Formats: sequence, C-alpha cells, structure tokens
Amino acid sequence: MIETTEYKKIPAAILHRVTGKTDINEVKSGIAEAEEIIDKVIHEYGRFNLILDPRGHDFADLAAHKMWKMWLIQDVPSKGKTNYTAIIVPDSLIGRGEKELMDTEKTKFFFDFDEGSNWLQKMVDIEENSNGLMRKGPSKTAEYIAAGRAIESIKPQGERICYDPYAIHFIGQEFLKYFELLSRSPEMAKIIMEHFERLYPGVYNSSVARVRYFDDFVRTSADKGLEQLVILGAGYDTRAYRIEKLKENVKVYEVDHPDTQSVKIEKIKEIFSSLPDHVVYVPVDLATENLGQRLIQQGYNRSQKTLFVMEGLTCYIPPKAVDDILSFIVKNSAKGSAVIFDYFPESLVNGICALEVGKNLRNFVEQYNESFQFGIKEGTIETFLAQRGFSQIKNVTGEDFKRAYFHGKNENMEVCGLLSVAHAMIE
Ligand SMILES: C[S@@+](CC[C@H](N)C(=O)[O-])C[C@H]1O[C@@H](n2cnc3c(N)ncnc32)[C@H](O)[C@@H]1O
Repeated sequence: MIETTEYKKIPAAILHRVTGKTDINEVKSGIAEAEEIIDKVIHEYGRFNLILDPRGHDFADLAAHKMWKMWLIQDVPSKGKTNYTAIIVPDSLIGRGEKELMDTEKTKFFFDFDEGSNWLQKMVDIEENSNGLMRKGPSKTAEYIAAGRAIESIKPQGERICYDPYAIHFIGQEFLKYFELLSRSPEMAKIIMEHFERLYPGVYNSSVARVRYFDDFVRTSADKGLEQLVILGAGYDTRAYRIEKLKENVKVYEVDHPDTQSVKIEKIKEIFSSLPDHVVYVPVDLATENLGQRLIQQGYNRSQKTLFVMEGLTCYIPPKAVDDILSFIVKNSAKGSAVIFDYFPESLVNGICALEVGKNLRNFVEQYNESFQFGIKEGTIETFLAQRGFSQIKNVTGEDFKRAYFHGKNENMEVCGLLSVAHAMIE
C-alpha cells in the first residue's frame, strides 16, 4: 500500500511509504492522497522535505511501478516542490549501488530510517539558521532593486522611467564598481548591461517600470487624502523621503526583516542626519511573526485610510504569510483603503515555467538564500483577490507597462511578461 503522512517531528517533512503488493488503483489513490498532503504542507511552508521509504515494496505489475516512479521521480522534484530528500533503501547490492551513484547534496540514500531522518533534521536546522528567523545579513535582492533605481536615475530626464536620487546610497561595493565603470567606460558598462539582458530579458525594464507605477499610485493616493502608508518588505524603498505629500500628511510604516531594516535605518541617519518623524520602523519577519500585532503595537490606526504596498515581496514569503497579510488588511483597514503588490506566476515559482528567464531568475535569487516561495496561477488574480474580500481589482501586465512608459528612445525595449502588478480596494 501507499501511505503518505505529514512527518510532524521535522518541519515541512512528509513521510511517503510503499509497502506490500500494490496495484495500479492503489497507486492512483496513493498519489491523490499524497498530493493532498503535499499541497497542504506547501501552503503552510512553501516547500517540503521528503522521507521516502519504499522498503518491502512489491508492485503488482510494471504499469503500477512505472506510474508511481514517474510521479515521484519526474513530477514531484521537477516542479521544485521538494527541498531535501532522504531515501531509505534496503542494505543490498542494488541499494549500495544507488547510494554510490545517486547521492547528492540535497538527496541522500540511507539503510536505516533514524539515520535518514536525523540527516533531514540536521539539514532543516542548518537551512533555518541561515534563511529563517535567524537569517544573517541584509537582503541582497533589495540592494539589486536599489541599484536598478540608481542606474535609471542617472539617465536624462526625458529618457529615464523612474527617478530616485537616494537609491545610490544603498548599494554596496560590487555595484559602486559598476557606477565607476559607467563614468570611465560607458562602452564597458553597456556590454555588462547587454549580458544581463541576455540572461534576464526585460527584467531590468520591468523592475524600473514597476517602481514608476508604484510611485504614481502612491502619489495619486496621497493626493486623494491618504492617512497611512504601510510599506511591507520595504527594503531600501525611499518613497517616504522623496514624495513631498507623504512628508506632510501621511504616517508611513516601513515593515521589513530586522536584518535589512537595521542596515537601512543606519543609512537613513547618514543621509538625513536623523530619522524623520513621519516614518515608523517595524522590524518583522513576515514568514514567522504576526504582522497585525506588531503594526498595532506601533500605532497603526484601523480607522484611517491606508495604502498597503508590497513591492518585490510576495514571491519571497510563504503562501500562508501572503494570506495572513491580506486577511489582516481586509479585517483591519478603513473603507477606501487599498493594497498594491506585484507577483510572479505560480509556474515560475514551482519551476514548471519553461522560459529560460524563469530558470535564470530562480537560480539568481537562490544563490542569496532568497528563494521564490509564492506565485499566483495565471489568469486567476481577480478570483484570488475577490475570494479574500477585495474589490475594484485591477491587474497590470508587462504589456500595460510597455504602453504606458516605453516611448521615444525606449520604444523598442523589452519588458518581462512574467511580472504583473495588482491593486484592489477595501469597501
Ligand atoms: C526584492 S526586495 C524588495 C525591496 C523593496 N520593496 C523594493 O522594491 O526596493 C525584497 C524585500 O523583502 C524583504 N523580505 C523578504 N522576506 C521577508 C520576511 N520574511 N520578512 C520581512 N521582510 C522580508 C527583504 O528583506 C527585502 O527588503
């Protein structure tokens, strides 16, 4: 029989066991049950770890064996759903051969169940220490986005898509070298940019168009009587310091992981000599902590008209965290409040997306331990937000960016079709 359970001793671990004589119908129902459990765990944690224990299995025929194996070998890992896998095999010649040939950093064979689960526990602990609550160091992707804004801001006024005079202060040595190069040898800088464009076609243009769209949205909201602005995953967002209307009338809450926020606060002090009165800094790990509680403790007012901004955030936090944030917004915001965020398609996040740019982007963020965790199924954004209590939903695609911002000298520039923006209201 095929038996799948959530192995609660280890976070996000699933135990999948096959024993005895198993026919094709048992395989079909076993896979269906397994997928239900996998979906539940993924919804909670983002990705899962697997203990695979097929010792003592005996499939009734080749078709049953093939179906199970195809699902397991091709479907589950190739969709990027698994993280670490411990496979428990009998201590036999075949078992030893498999171990010898197929052990990798993330998938290992064991002859003993406890040995396998101890290894998995160890890997989960290491991962948590480097990536979770105890994540070390500021966000690298936040620095990359700031670098994009800085590059765009040195272009002439009629040519640039967005403008952020403070962005340059948030970039480290690696990028500063690029800026030096840009002034010394524009040709060389152009070659680097073209290389980036080959690996990530349209991504730079989409990211600066996103900044512009969010800037315009925040400005319009401020003109229409916004009282609070909550910037989630704020990174090195500088809107609170460069949009005049916000300085005059709006309380801005910047929420980010403490490792990044502490670096930002120091930089803001360096640039402006002190921290501005209208900004409240709220250090929160959105993957593990309760946003609502922290915001309310810091003075967030449920009866004021509020805009929630999540720029470049949703893809980096688990689906449950996205749900919790949206649920907090719907239940704790005054009428006329709004949310704006960008998102990737689910197929990019789970690895199904066949586009080269999708694979390159995933590899890029993984090297910094900022893996993609959440995406929205293509064509479902309206249902997704309506089901969560939002109205006046608008979806903005790469094509919309192109029509709105890429004219004249920029007319032939490519944008990335994988990035979309959505905004919606609370009524
Ligand atoms: C790609 S950056 C975007 C930064 C900024 N919004 C921008 O557009 O320039 C992602 C941001 O999300 C934040 N982030 C990622 N995971 C987080 C978590 N679990 N809790 C809080 N912030 C998180 C990072 O610290 C980082 O600042």
